[in-house]
Amino acid sequence: MPPPLDPVAAATHPDPYPFYADLVSQRPLYWDDSLRLWVASSAEAVQAVLTHPSCRVRPPSEPVPRPLRGSPPSEVFRLLARMNDGPFHALARRALVGLLATFDSPRVVEVSRRWTLRLALPESAHSLPFLLPVHVLGELLGLPSESLPRVASWTRDFVRCIAPGAHPDSLTAAVEATRSLCSLFRSSLEAQCSSGDGALALLVRESMALGLQDSSDVVVANAIGLLLQANDATAGLLGQALRVLLLDFSLLTELRVEVSLLPSFLDEVLRFESPVQNTRRFLATDAVIAGQSMASGDAALVVLAAANRDPSLHLEPWRFDLHRTQPRGLAFGAGAHACPGAALAKAISQGALLALLPTDLRSLRSACLGASWMPSLNARVPVFSAPSSLEAHS
Ligand code: HEM
Repeated sequence: MPPPLDPVAAATHPDPYPFYADLVSQRPLYWDDSLRLWVASSAEAVQAVLTHPSCRVRPPSEPVPRPLRGSPPSEVFRLLARMNDGPFHALARRALVGLLATFDSPRVVEVSRRWTLRLALPESAHSLPFLLPVHVLGELLGLPSESLPRVASWTRDFVRCIAPGAHPDSLTAAVEATRSLCSLFRSSLEAQCSSGDGALALLVRESMALGLQDSSDVVVANAIGLLLQANDATAGLLGQALRVLLLDFSLLTELRVEVSLLPSFLDEVLRFESPVQNTRRFLATDAVIAGQSMASGDAALVVLAAANRDPSLHLEPWRFDLHRTQPRGLAFGAGAHACPGAALAKAISQGALLALLPTDLRSLRSACLGASWMPSLNARVPVFSAPSSLEAHS
């Protein structure tokens, strides 16, 4: 099989790992002339870029992607913690971290287990990884249960338009989706504020206490932002976890007997098949990072998936090892923007696996054998094949 053309194409290549291993050993931080990007792949270079104060999450001259400007998605996008740096980011992030801390893992595991039993019917189990994260998070945020299938579809439409390399046509569906999501979140927020109860009301109180201006706009945007962040990344985690399990019978048997190994299993999946393969940073000033001089305006591709197989971090990194004692992975990023949803994402995936492990997994296994990768420049998310109608009803 020919190697990937470049580190961006690697994200959805059938086997990008020999290519990543070459990058880590030979070019841990280099300028890629065809991509016009710095590429950081070793654990050291990835950490250095992600924690450098000159590295921003958006190009300073383009806080909102140009195609989105003036559209409803841009109004949400510009308020997202994920897409900002500086004092606004610090406050919005603190409010989110405060909220996420209230979702304790045993409760999330149980909510996820329950939703999995409802969503993983023979004819729909293949789409569980894409549906489950939004259903669980939507319930935790106090959205009406009956709205959740629509929320999942609106979230998908919104995510498509802000993904790196998004097609301009995706904006039309995203505009409608944003209006619907904003209107639903606003009415849920009002209801929760009048009753004084619920996650959105809590987020308003946290944001106001931190002195965030226009708290309700910030809360609505960032609550939607949680759905956006959870959607593809958690679909990637759960999809990859199922793929690894369904293709390795001895691992499946071991986990069926010892479900307490599920958290270690998920940590190893995150390291071995990182759902977010890469992210980007943009230099706001000239800087020397990991020994390389970079100029203001340069951009860097940060290859988390390569760093997760850096032999300086992990012994025999190419081996899937359920019993690694110290999984110090970079799957959730590092530095000021490291993922605050890590525990939540793992609890959602754990609940799904707890529900699925005791069941007959044959139809899911055939869906997994026919899997492809979701088109993406940075995520590695399996898309399971839909069952034929005969299979679904047998
Ligand atoms: C319930 C699920 C999840 C939620 C609510 C969530 C939420 C978030 C948020 C709000 C951020 C931005 C933080 C900031 O900018 O300060 C973030 C960043 C990030 N998330 Fe998650 N996330 C979830 C699942 C995942 C999963 C499964 C992965 C895959 C490993 C992941 C990987 C990342 C990474 C790599 C970043 C950093 C991006 C960067 O630095 O450029 N997230 N997440």
